[in-house]
Amino acid sequence: MLVEQPPASVPDFAALRGCWQPVAYAHALGDAPLRVRLLGEDLVLWRDSAGVPHALRDLCIHRGTALSLGRVIGDRLMCPYHGWQYGSDGICKLIPQLADPTRVPGKARVDAFTCLERFGMLWVAMEEPRYALPSIPEFDDPDWIVVRAGPYAWNADASRQLENFTDFGHFPWVHPGLLGDPERPVVPDYSVRPDGHILYYDVVRPEAPNSDDFPVFANETSVAPERRSRYQLHLPYTILLRLGWGGEKGMVYFFSSQPVDEDHCIGYVTIARNYDREQPDSVLQDFEDTIFNQDQLVVESQRPERVPFDLAAEMHLKFDAVAIEYRKAMRAEGLAKRA
Ligand code: FES
Ligand SMILES: [Fe+2]
Repeated sequence: MLVEQPPASVPDFAALRGCWQPVAYAHALGDAPLRVRLLGEDLVLWRDSAGVPHALRDLCIHRGTALSLGRVIGDRLMCPYHGWQYGSDGICKLIPQLADPTRVPGKARVDAFTCLERFGMLWVAMEEPRYALPSIPEFDDPDWIVVRAGPYAWNADASRQLENFTDFGHFPWVHPGLLGDPERPVVPDYSVRPDGHILYYDVVRPEAPNSDDFPVFANETSVAPERRSRYQLHLPYTILLRLGWGGEKGMVYFFSSQPVDEDHCIGYVTIARNYDREQPDSVLQDFEDTIFNQDQLVVESQRPERVPFDLAAEMHLKFDAVAIEYRKAMRAEGLAKRA
C-alpha cells in the first residue's frame, strides 16, 4: 500500500515575508481599495492622493471590518463601518465618534507593509526585503513593446507554479507544437550557476515550428536561428528570461508568482519585444492563456501541493538540474524549512 509521505521541507512563510512578492498588476488598483491575499494574510492596497500605492492589513482594529470595503479620503483609508481614517503608516488619524476626533488612542493602528510599484506591478514585502527586484531596462526602453498576460490564479502553491516555468522536459508533452516537439523530447545540455538567491542558466532550445495560430516567434527565415534562452531565477518565485534569435530581435519574459497561501498562487507574465511592433497584444496574451491553461491542469494535480525541497523527495534526472538547484538554493537561503 502506498503511504503518502508528508513533505520534509516546505516554503517557509515566515522567511518569505522578507521578500518582495507581487500582489496585483498596477492597472488593477484604481481609486478604490483592493483586497489581496499574501502568505495567508488579507491585505488592502490603496492609492493616496498622489497615486502612490500603500498596503495595510485588511482588518480594522475597531471591529475587525475589512478596510478594503471602505474608501480613500485624500491620503487616508476610511473604514466602511464607523468611518475611522488610517494613514499609510497604519496609524489611525481620525475617529469621528470622539468629541475631538483627532485625539486618537495610540492602540488604534493596523499593520502597514512596504509597497512598491515596479514593472507595471504592485509588490509588497511584509518585512524588510532582503533581496532587490531584478533590473529589466528593456521595460523602460521605448523601442520595446510591453504586453501583460494573466494573471493566472491556480490551486497550487507558488513553488509548483515557479518550477513549472523552469521545467524543460514537459514542453513537448504539455505544449506540443507550441513550445516543443514530441519527436524531439531530449532536453539539451545546460548547466546552472547558482549565485546567492539567483540561479543563472542558458539553454539553446530545439527548434519548434511556429504555429499559424500563434505566430509569436520571430524566425520567419528558412535558416533556423539560434534560440538562446538566458534565464535568471530569482528566489523565491520570479524568473527573468531573455530570448535571443541570433540577431537584434529579442524578447524578455518576466514571470512572478504570488504566494497567496499554501495551495493558491497567482502568476503574472510580462513580455517585452523589440520587433513586430504592429502585432496586437491579444496575440501574445492568447498564446500565454493557452500555455498556462495547459500547465494548470498538470500542476494542480501535483502532490504534495508544495514543492518538497529535500532532494530525497521525488526523483531527479540530469535535465531536472534547475529544479535541483532551486530546491538547494531555497533551503540554503532559509526560504524553505522542515515542515
Ligand atoms: S469597524 Fe472600522 S471603524 Fe468601526
Ligand atoms: Fe508549461
